[in-house]
Amino acid sequence: MLSGKAAIAGVLGWPVAHSLSPRLHQYWLEKHGIDGAYVPLAVRPEDMAQVLPALAKMGLRGVNLTLPHKELALPLLDEVTDEARAIGAVNTIVIRDGRLLGSNSDAYGFMENIRPHLPKARQKAVVLGAGGAARAVCYALAREGFREIVVLNRTQDKASLLTTQFPHVTSESWEKRSEVLDEADVLVNATSLGMTGKEQLEIDLSALPPRALVTDIVYTPLLTPLLLAAKKKGHPVADGLGMLLHQAVPGFEAWFGQRPLVTPELKAFVLGA
Ligand code: ATR
Repeated sequence: MLSGKAAIAGVLGWPVAHSLSPRLHQYWLEKHGIDGAYVPLAVRPEDMAQVLPALAKMGLRGVNLTLPHKELALPLLDEVTDEARAIGAVNTIVIRDGRLLGSNSDAYGFMENIRPHLPKARQKAVVLGAGGAARAVCYALAREGFREIVVLNRTQDKASLLTTQFPHVTSESWEKRSEVLDEADVLVNATSLGMTGKEQLEIDLSALPPRALVTDIVYTPLLTPLLLAAKKKGHPVADGLGMLLHQAVPGFEAWFGQRPLVTPELKAFVLGA
């Protein structure tokens, strides 16, 4: 039950109905017995400049941002972390003393999700895609010490841009995606390919060393055809839902004062949506 002192946070998106975040945060709020709520807020992009300052005036603790607000919000905030600026997107806003502080926990979420499965060698990673998700992935891999991050994207100009913005990143043409896998320690699908209702990702994993971790940012289905093919070949795999769960941790801690855990029970609960 909420009291008059309840701490309020939420997620801003357009649309927002598909978001799993309210369910995820509600689970943690109940688990910790916190007097608080996390609500979905459907906000049009053109209304963001009015809505964001109003959230501070209404006393919210903060919000998550989902599409299409992650990039658009940057100039509307009082402060933005270097990490969010480098990635070019904000997914977490903390409101303190009426000021809006923007950060990005996608790189953190990505790395926490794969960390238990990573091979010891952190030399080479292959990243498919060059959109917002790929930017967070490249940032995380470079910070983790990967020396060679090869980005391949259907539109190669976008991949080339990443080579100028992140350390250790090089780009290759999309057609080479099966060839560049030799010596890779990690393969990441950061495109929307393989998602339910989208086209399949065509890739031949033969050249990928058996130790290499394969991970997908797509989580509908949870086990994408890429992850199934990798599992069949004996590779360690990490699904994309784990990234979503982990990226939510820093926001929850900042708004509600407790650091929540990502557990198999949480995952099962969120999947039951
Ligand atoms: P996000 O910000 O979530 O990563 P995005 O910017 O729409 O989303 O990026 C989607 C990624 O999937 C892009 O890398 C896109 O490639 P383009 O940059 O060439 O558009 C990739 N993608 C989508 N459909 C694809 C397809 N049919 N074949 C290859 N790549 C595809």
